Amino acid sequence: MINPWSSGQVPDYDRLREDFGIGDVPKGIFDSSLFRRGIIFGQRGLEYIEYCMKNEIQFNAMTGLMPSGEMHLGNKSVMDQILFYQSLGAKITIAVADLESYGTRNLSLEKARDIAINKYLVNYIAMGLKPCRFYFQSDSARVQRLALILSNEVNFSEMKAIYGFENSSPMLHINSPLVQVADILHVQSPEMGGPSPTIVPVGADQDPHLRLTRDIANRHRVFNISWERETVKISVSGKYDSRKMLDIANEKLLELNFKIVSRNDNYRLISAMGDIDNNVRLDLELALIESKYNEHAFIAPSATYQKLLTGLKGGKMSSSKPESLISLNDKPEEAVKKIKSATTGGRATVEEQRIKGGEPDKCPVFELYSFHLSPDDKDLNEIHETCKAGTLLCGPCKSEAAERMRKFLADLSEKRNEAMEKISLYVGDE
Ligand code: TRP
Ligand code: SF4
Repeated sequence: MINPWSSGQVPDYDRLREDFGIGDVPKGIFDSSLFRRGIIFGQRGLEYIEYCMKNEIQFNAMTGLMPSGEMHLGNKSVMDQILFYQSLGAKITIAVADLESYGTRNLSLEKARDIAINKYLVNYIAMGLKPCRFYFQSDSARVQRLALILSNEVNFSEMKAIYGFENSSPMLHINSPLVQVADILHVQSPEMGGPSPTIVPVGADQDPHLRLTRDIANRHRVFNISWERETVKISVSGKYDSRKMLDIANEKLLELNFKIVSRNDNYRLISAMGDIDNNVRLDLELALIESKYNEHAFIAPSATYQKLLTGLKGGKMSSSKPESLISLNDKPEEAVKKIKSATTGGRATVEEQRIKGGEPDKCPVFELYSFHLSPDDKDLNEIHETCKAGTLLCGPCKSEAAERMRKFLADLSEKRNEAMEKISLYVGDE
C-alpha cells in the first residue's frame, strides 16, 4: 500500500509500476528534460494528452498544493511540469489543499492561506506562471458540492481498503481524498467547459488518489467502454434511456469506421470491431455527446508520476529533515552550505576516486544537476562521464553545483519581489 500522508523511503520505481499497473513513459512525446531523463518514471492515460497535442485540442493541467511548510526542490518538478504544460497551451488550474492540511496537518485555514500565497504562489509566479485559475478548497462551493455528490458512488469499505482509515478516523480526513477527486474533476464540469483530457503531475505517493479519481470518473459515465484486442464493448449505464444512448453509440461507431458485431438493448450493450488506435477519439467524442445529458461526463484524468528527489543527506527530501532540503525560499548562502556538506557518490579517498571513479547514479548532488541545475543534456552527460572516469572530483563538482544553485536562488528571490505585486491577478473570489 502507498500512503499519501507518511514520509517513507525512496521507493523502487520498477516495482511500483509493476505492482500498481502504472504505465512506462513512451519516448519522444514531450521535449522536456523531465521526460528525457526519466525523472517522470510512469504515467496513466498519457495517450489522451498525446492525442490532444497531435490534434491541437486544448487540455487541462491541474495540480494541488498542500501548504504544509516550505516549497522545496522536491516539489519544484511538479511546478516545472505545470509551467511546461502552460507553455504548450494547456489550461492550468491550481488548488490549494487547505481543507486537507486542516484535516491532516492541523493547520488553520488562515495559516494555510498565508503559506500558500507567500511561500508557494509567489514562487510559481517568479518561475514564470502566467495567470490561471488558482483557488482554495475551503472557498470553492463548486468543488465542495462536487465532492459531496461524487461521494455517493464510494463506500467506506472502499476508502478503508485504499487508505487504511479506521472507525476512529476524523471525517474531514476521510473526506479529503474526495475533495481532491473533486479538485481534479471539476475542471471538466459544464461551467468549466465540459469533458476534456486533464493531466495531473504528481509524486508516486499520490497514486491512490489518482486511481480513486479515475474510478469515480468512469463510474459516472453513461458509456462504459472496454476493449479486448480489436473488439470494443460499450455498455450504457442504468440511469439512462438505453435505446436512445445505444443509437448514439451506434452512430458514432459507424462514423469512426467500426463494424458493429452485436447490439442488445436488454443488456444495454453494443459491441464492434475497429482500429484500437481510435480508442481515445471514441472515448472523447462519446464523452462530449453524453455531456448533453450527463453533467458528470468526466474523462478519466491522466497522470504523470515523478521520482522523489533524494535529500542531501540521503533518504527522501522532505520538510521534516531541514538539513537535507533546499527550499526555494532559502537564502542562497544557506543552500551553498547545505550542498557543500551533502552526501555524495564519491569514494573514501581522492586516490581511490581517481582510480575507480565516482558513482553519479547514487549521488544526491548529481541528482540536483539532473533535476534542476543542468538543463543542457550535453552538460549533464559530461558531468556523469567525468565523474565515472574519476577526473571530476567531488570538491569541485559540489562547488559548481553550489554556485549554480546560488545564482538560481538569488535570481528567484529578485523575481519574487516583482511577483508579490502580481498576486491579485491570481487570487480572486471563488
Ligand atoms: N494531496 C495533495 C498533496 O498532498 C494535494 C492536492 C490536493 C492535489 N488536490 C490535488 C494534488 C489535486 C493534485 C491534484 O500534495
Ligand atoms: Fe557526485 Fe559530483 Fe562526486 Fe560524482 S563528482 S560523486 S557527481 S559529487
